[in-house]
Order: sequence, then C-alpha cells, then structure tokens
Amino acid sequence: MTRTVYVNGEYLPETEATVSIFDRGFLMADAVYEVTSVLDGKLIDFEGHAVRLKRSLDELQMAEPCTKDELLEIHRKLVELNDINEGLVYLQVTRGSDGDRDFVFPSADTKPTIVLFTQNKPGLADSPAAKKGAKIISIEDIRWGRRDIKTVQLLYPSMGKMMAKAAGCDDAWMIEDGHVTEGTSNNAYFVKDGKIVTRPLSNDILHGITRKAVLRMAAEAQMEVEERLFTIDEAKAADEAFTTSASAFVMPVVEIDGVSLGDGTPGPIAKRLREIYLDESLKAAI
Ligand code: PDD
Repeated sequence: MTRTVYVNGEYLPETEATVSIFDRGFLMADAVYEVTSVLDGKLIDFEGHAVRLKRSLDELQMAEPCTKDELLEIHRKLVELNDINEGLVYLQVTRGSDGDRDFVFPSADTKPTIVLFTQNKPGLADSPAAKKGAKIISIEDIRWGRRDIKTVQLLYPSMGKMMAKAAGCDDAWMIEDGHVTEGTSNNAYFVKDGKIVTRPLSNDILHGITRKAVLRMAAEAQMEVEERLFTIDEAKAADEAFTTSASAFVMPVVEIDGVSLGDGTPGPIAKRLREIYLDESLKAAI
C-alpha cells in the first residue's frame, strides 16, 4: 500500500513527496525528530514528544514549523489515512534551505521543512522480541556532546546496531569514560537486588519520553529506582536489565557481551514494567 505522508502542509502519496537537495537536513543533519508510537489507533504520550520537540528546536534556534495543536492534527490524520492500528509516527523538522550550501545558518525567516510519515507495525505491543529479550554488545560512545537534543545525526548509532548484528546480537550499549550512556536508540537500565539503576539526565543522553513514564510508574509500583552512573561490569553482574524507547516500550535485555543475565530469560521487573507501561499508556493514549 502506498502511504500518505505529510510534507510542508500537504498530504501526499509517498512517491510524490519531495524535499530540496539543498535542504540542511540532507546536507548537514541540521534537523531534529520525534518518534511517537501508536497503539489501538491512538498516540502514546503525544504531549511528551511535542514538548521535547520544542526543546530540541529551541536548543538549535530553529523555528517551530506549526503549533502543537496542528502537530496533533497532522499525527491523527496520518494515523487515520494510513489505517494504523499499531505502529509509529515519524516526525522530522529541518532548518530548511535558502537554495544553496553554506555552513552559516540561513536567515531566521527561512521556512523550516516538516515531514511526517507513519510506519505500520502490527504486533508492536505483543512483540516476540520482547518475549525473548535482547542480546547486546557494548561499544565506545563516540557521538557528539549534545545527545539531549534529538537530532538526526544517527550514523554512529546505526553503525552500532550493525556492529551488534555482526556479533549475532540485537543492539549495542555505549560507554563513555567507563560508564554506560545509553543504547543506540533507547535508554539503558539494570536491576540488582530489586533496585532499578539508570544513568541520570544530562547532555550525555537523550531524555527519553518512555524513560520518564517508566520511572514514574516504577515509583508508583513501589519499586526502588536509583539514578546514577554505572559500568558495563555492573550491568553484566545484574539480575536483569532492560531498555526503554517509544518504538520498543520496555525491552528486556538477557545478555550483555556474551554474559547471560539471571537465567537468560526476560526478568520479572522488566516484564512487569512492560505490562504496566503498555496498560497505563493505552489508557492515556489520545
Ligand atoms: N529513539 N536514547 C536514544 C539515543 C534514542 O534514539 C531514543 C529513541 C531513546 C528513547 O527515547 P524515547 O523513550 O523518547 O523514545 C533514548 C527513537 C525511538 C528512534 O530513534 O527511533
């Protein structure tokens, strides 16, 4: 089926949607993005994604392409037009183009480019991958220093995912100065003696929307949470581990660098948090 996508105010078949070759998103990765999941035809935590988008734009002095209400309307219309029951809505805003390549930002009145498309993912909630759990490798984190801004500079995370695949694994966790930062496209956690440990927020990691919700839900369920730096060796010696993201919710991790965690199957806390997250998020979906 040909998708209907959104580009700069128009709903178009994907085959007819175009962006300039001079667009700074294409030439300079001068662009930010959001990924919002869809369950039961509804958007999960749209508000959180809209707020983070605004923050990313502000941090880069990039203009807002439209209002939050308009953004919600576009998301909903794409979900409807593409008949998405379970899947994702991808949104990208770039600094646009003034018709040439230049390191200097174009004038402030240059129109940003806005693109949205859907990805149909039946079985996203009831995922076989989540039942099995993910195997991860650790790699050095050589990304730039403003990982809190959700930019489209995804080459290294993409290479990390390929390194994991080459090692027969599913994903990679990145390490900087001896401490785990995050996964290639998710936030990272381990559990030891019932306590959930994850890195605190800073410029070093993306401020995950799923992270925020899951930490709140964990506290509400009387689970103990500690936000602190941790090493990959601590994670390897943990009872269980997991990641969070809008595209995979709570994903159990069963192996790190060839070391099995617990009995090598998804741990009870990760499984419970996944259930709670799906349940609560669905209730609040719009
Ligand atoms: N990635 N850390 C990184 C580096 C990420 O790319 C993501 C999300 C997260 C989790 O953030 P959130 O819970 O808001 O999805 C953490 C998205 C899903 C992606 O690039 O597809």
